[in-house]
Amino acid sequence: MGQGTLGSFAAPLFGAGLLTSWEAIGLDNPQNKTEAYWDLVKSQFNLAEGLHYFNNASLGASSTHIQQATNTFRNLLDGFPSKYMWGGWEDEKEEVRRKVANLFSVSPEEIALTHNTTEGMNLIARSFDLNPGDEVILADHEHASGTIPWEVWQETKGITLVRPELPILPKTVSDLVEVYEKAITPKTKVISMCHIVNTNGMVLPVKQVSKMAHEKGILVAVDGAQSAGMFTIDLRDLNCDFYTASSHKWLFSPKGVGIFYAKKESQDFLKPLIVARGHTDTSIRRLENYNTRNLPEVLGLGASIDFHHIIGGERIHQRTFELKKYFRSKLEGDSRFTIKTPALDDLSGAIQVVEVNGQDVKDVKEQLWDRYGIDCRPMSSKGLNALRLSFAIYITKKDIDYLVAALKALAA
Ligand SMILES: Cc1ncc(COP(=O)(O)O)c(C=O)c1O
Repeated sequence: MGQGTLGSFAAPLFGAGLLTSWEAIGLDNPQNKTEAYWDLVKSQFNLAEGLHYFNNASLGASSTHIQQATNTFRNLLDGFPSKYMWGGWEDEKEEVRRKVANLFSVSPEEIALTHNTTEGMNLIARSFDLNPGDEVILADHEHASGTIPWEVWQETKGITLVRPELPILPKTVSDLVEVYEKAITPKTKVISMCHIVNTNGMVLPVKQVSKMAHEKGILVAVDGAQSAGMFTIDLRDLNCDFYTASSHKWLFSPKGVGIFYAKKESQDFLKPLIVARGHTDTSIRRLENYNTRNLPEVLGLGASIDFHHIIGGERIHQRTFELKKYFRSKLEGDSRFTIKTPALDDLSGAIQVVEVNGQDVKDVKEQLWDRYGIDCRPMSSKGLNALRLSFAIYITKKDIDYLVAALKALAA
């Protein structure tokens, strides 16, 4: 992985002296995997008093370090607006691009800094000059951000959207690969797929689908909104053509910052969504040029990647699966609950959904909030009737115990 190659993460951020001394806090001790360590991680976030936040899949929280770094950039900008907006931060922006590229094991020349996943999915769909009858595969669990841009082409250009159904509880990765295999026809031009679906947290087989698609000259676009930051991702290895993510979820960045990856060989397909000065740039930077933009937030993304590395990508990766297993072990075999996310680590991570049998999920969600201060997302689509629970790094096993006790009380 590229994660170890960034040099000194503890160096003061861009010379502004922004980083706390991680050593002093004890956050950078790579050997420490105790619950006390994760309490320390949690203490870096300032979620509201009394809130039990299991809703990271909707929106992440930034740690205080990330907030402070972003605020410092905001203050600097407001101290000399024209300087920083128009070139004063070019090097810093490029440094963020390098950090993102490193995190995903790709080249900085393959990364654009955008606003969110929705923008990335639009950028991809709107770039393609498809003809009537050309097919795009979008499985039934795709997020609206990934389907709407193609639906517009269906209405206006007559392209065909192929919407295969995914099993909710696949037993193996092949069960999912098969669905895509069957959906491909000689007319397929693009497969657009989530890395992790937002409905039940299932991981989709991007690597296997990309291999299959490329053998047939089909391009693969990936919605990484729910995966970027949750576990280790090597985009070179996944080998999709495009990957777009919202860093304000599992990377805890400032809001309204997105990551867009386009494989070097596939960049020629892409046209900027917004054309402004710089739109003829031959590099990937042409895709991120909005003129005046949210630069403090973009630079705050750099701080969020520093924070990710301080804890350690590998430790975060392991914790994701540890928390998932811990949660599942508390409910599996209990006839009052149905877990509607596949169990295998190849098939799910830190998003799990559970039905309280015989109860409407909207009622359960409301009661969890009213009685226990637990925030999570009710998922009614695809017959799920299940609570979507996110186990981000600020969630401890104690938090899961609290959640499980609340669920059991409501189910009783
Ligand atoms: C799978 C998926 N794609 C796209 C989005 C849209 O994200 P954003 O609003 O940051 O563009 C979400 C948001 O929850 C999502 O879960």
